[in-house]
Amino acid sequence: MANYKVVSMPGDGIGKVVLPEAIRVLDAVGFDADYIHADIGWEFWCTEGNALPERTVDLLAEHKLGLFGAITSKPKAKATAELDPSLRDKGHVYFSPIVGMRQRFQLDVCLRPCRSFPGNPLNFIRRTVDGGFEEPKVDAVIFRQNTEGLYCGIEWTNPPAGVRDGLALHPKYKAFADVPPEELAMSVRLFTRKACERILRASFAYAKKHGYPGVTVCEKPNVLRETSGMMETVAAEVQKDYPELKLWSTNIDAQMMWLTKNPEDYGVLVAGNLFGDIISDAFAGLVGGLGFACSGNIGDDVAVFEPTHGSAPKYEQLDPPIVNPIAMILSGAMLLDHVDEGAKADRIRGAVAAVVAEGKVRTYDMLKLPGGPEVFQRGAASTRELTDAILANL
Ligand code: NAI
Ligand code: MG
Repeated sequence: MANYKVVSMPGDGIGKVVLPEAIRVLDAVGFDADYIHADIGWEFWCTEGNALPERTVDLLAEHKLGLFGAITSKPKAKATAELDPSLRDKGHVYFSPIVGMRQRFQLDVCLRPCRSFPGNPLNFIRRTVDGGFEEPKVDAVIFRQNTEGLYCGIEWTNPPAGVRDGLALHPKYKAFADVPPEELAMSVRLFTRKACERILRASFAYAKKHGYPGVTVCEKPNVLRETSGMMETVAAEVQKDYPELKLWSTNIDAQMMWLTKNPEDYGVLVAGNLFGDIISDAFAGLVGGLGFACSGNIGDDVAVFEPTHGSAPKYEQLDPPIVNPIAMILSGAMLLDHVDEGAKADRIRGAVAAVVAEGKVRTYDMLKLPGGPEVFQRGAASTRELTDAILANL
């Protein structure tokens, strides 16, 4: 029997293309695991009225480790239209299975490393004063609070009277008191001390383990005094347990501006849900974009690793497939880190680095080509060929 059991959730579209590539690489480094297929995604919304079937939740609860590809989600009207006729009018409401997984298993720490691979033509470069250019080395790791903040899901258009009464306790509500409720939309930004502490502890521990000089909290405490303020207060408390590490603070807006000025100055960053989503995408854009962006959703009990990209439906039918498997493969390496198989993870990252540096085998995105079946004539490698090159470099 294998040492590990990993729940494999390819999902929709290119999720089905890239996940098997990651498993090929994990097998090749000798990761002793069995992969148990689990259903997730649009198909199961249409046929069962649930994109995250209970049997998948049960498998995750049992095996604790998941690899996830990507899912497709569609707006409300389409979701209703595509639901099997026998399921209509039975109260089924589409709910994102990713958000569902994060909430069901309290996967509250989202880890998104954004590291540049030398030789990647997609790496960010910047002008120097003498008219040349330079390529800063980006080595940022974003810790995004994954379960609350502005994505906690508490929101209304036309909030009920009780909610408006509650809001009226706040002096600032006066300015909105006369707005007809049906013209009022609100999304609650909710932070808990416990979740702030967990994401901060995880980030400080990571910074210490990996030799970063400190942690940067990226929020907006000058305006969002309560929520961002709580994150900053707790950060200062947690830092007391890490006297050797520094604590910096940046504002999300300024951080976005500095991103392209001096990205090399940032290492471990921590933010609430929405700001974390934003800075992690922004940093990912400096190191190759969606084809390279890997992530982990980590709870106390269960952890699920996934590329940041979606299901890219327009490429799903292409045979051979053209999409870049690196984001998924690096997510597999993160799974290895998580189970203390760091040496195997390093081998994978080393092989990816070698292939990128050599530059002979590149998917269409790395050649900056528009996607389509014609990319092969223009020198692009297929998904499988890129994985083969990585395997050859292990
Ligand atoms: P997407 O990430 O699927 O694709 C956007 C574009 O990025 C693609 O057209 C393609 O040009 C490029 N791209 C994505 N992955 C790539 C890869 N591995 N290699 C090369 N190029 C790649 O986002 P989009 O088009 O906004 O959404 C498509 C569907 O995916 C939607 O239904 C959306 O709801 C869902 N989605 C799911 C996510 C998830 O499962 N975590 C995240 C984002 C979107
Ligand atoms: Mg995003």
